[in-house]
Amino acid sequence: MIFTVAIDGPAAAGKGTISRAVAEAFGFAHLDTGALYRAVGVKGGDPVEAARSLTPEDLSRDDLRSLEAGQAASRVAVIPEVRAALLDFQRRFARRDGGAVLDGRDIGTVICPEAEVKLFVTASADVRARRRWLELGGEAAPRALADVLAEVQERDARDMGRTDAPLRAAADAQVIDTSALTSAEAIAQAVALVAKAL
Ligand code: C5P
Repeated sequence: MIFTVAIDGPAAAGKGTISRAVAEAFGFAHLDTGALYRAVGVKGGDPVEAARSLTPEDLSRDDLRSLEAGQAASRVAVIPEVRAALLDFQRRFARRDGGAVLDGRDIGTVICPEAEVKLFVTASADVRARRRWLELGGEAAPRALADVLAEVQERDARDMGRTDAPLRAAADAQVIDTSALTSAEAIAQAVALVAKAL
């Protein structure tokens, strides 16, 4: 069965949590496409070369979730040749047999416009920054909440402002605003929308 769930949205909106849960609920494969850009961003050297030669080891580095890796990812993600180098892998993953969930910024708009379900997962910048800050350790985090908020906003602006595959909801995407939802509630909404389309 070919069935793609495209989940897009800004940083720390809950895409990862929702994507993993949807994949598990339906037995679909899951690809966190942000990890591809993060791996390119932290690899160093020429980003286009890095994107063309990504290895499984690059994708399993344990520094990929850091704020620095997120910033590095959004800087290389503006380069059209970097995006082009990562396109085929993502498209093939999306249409693999057995169902796939991909989360990112351009899955419903560029990678898989034919996706059977498109979700745009969002939340206010304040809520997203607080979540990322708590993930980094809260009071024990290496950054103050205000700094995390500034980084989230900087990354949003770069992701929405780029010319190639900017972050935006596809016209036919269903929006889930997780600002006032628990993760269980957000997951339940997403699972219900996918179940309806199956
Ligand atoms: O989702 P995550 O925070 O891991 O993504 C890191 C960065 O990678 C994003 O800020 C964005 O610049 C880039 N990205 C992208 N397209 C995707 C996924 C991520 O441009 N499909």
